[in-house]
Amino acid sequence: MAIVTVPGENRTIKDQQAIAAYLAAIGIDYERWEPKQQLAEGATADEVLQAYAAEIETLKSRGGYVTADVIDVHSETPGVEAMLAKFNREHWHDEDEVRFIIQGRGLFHIHPRNAPVVGIEVEAGDLIRVPRGTWHWFNLCGDRRIRAIRLFQDVSGWAPVYTESGEDAAYQPICLGPSYFPAQVQS
Ligand SMILES: [Fe+2]
Repeated sequence: MAIVTVPGENRTIKDQQAIAAYLAAIGIDYERWEPKQQLAEGATADEVLQAYAAEIETLKSRGGYVTADVIDVHSETPGVEAMLAKFNREHWHDEDEVRFIIQGRGLFHIHPRNAPVVGIEVEAGDLIRVPRGTWHWFNLCGDRRIRAIRLFQDVSGWAPVYTESGEDAAYQPICLGPSYFPAQVQS
């Protein structure tokens, strides 16, 4: 489940309903979808999309999204730091940022126009929608691992537009949840 922090108020929210309510008030949709099946670590993108086909169709009809893909980042991904550097500064898109986390963790910061900056640490099973135009930035956690389904209305709207506010520099990209999960013992 996600962990929400409001650093300016020294506040942490871990209850699912409280998280959804707080985020809804600043325009961010948050839902928790329990995976119906465990996907193998090596599952292909097609297998991921197939496994979540029903959920993807629900989201598409809800938000007008036309395409879905799977982003898969780990510490050995070529160019991972350069890729991360594109999104760890405050920016916005002319497109919703919709992510359903399959594996790993990540940290969104949202900068509402009239409310304090909020950190949202997401993990497997978390669905987040950051509406177009929302100021935000994103970091991976220390283990540099995330796999997520992305939905797009129009891929051309996806390029980040930087605010150059420097606001992101005031917040530590530190994840609070576990960054390492021991392998499950098979009995
Ligand atoms: Fe973004």
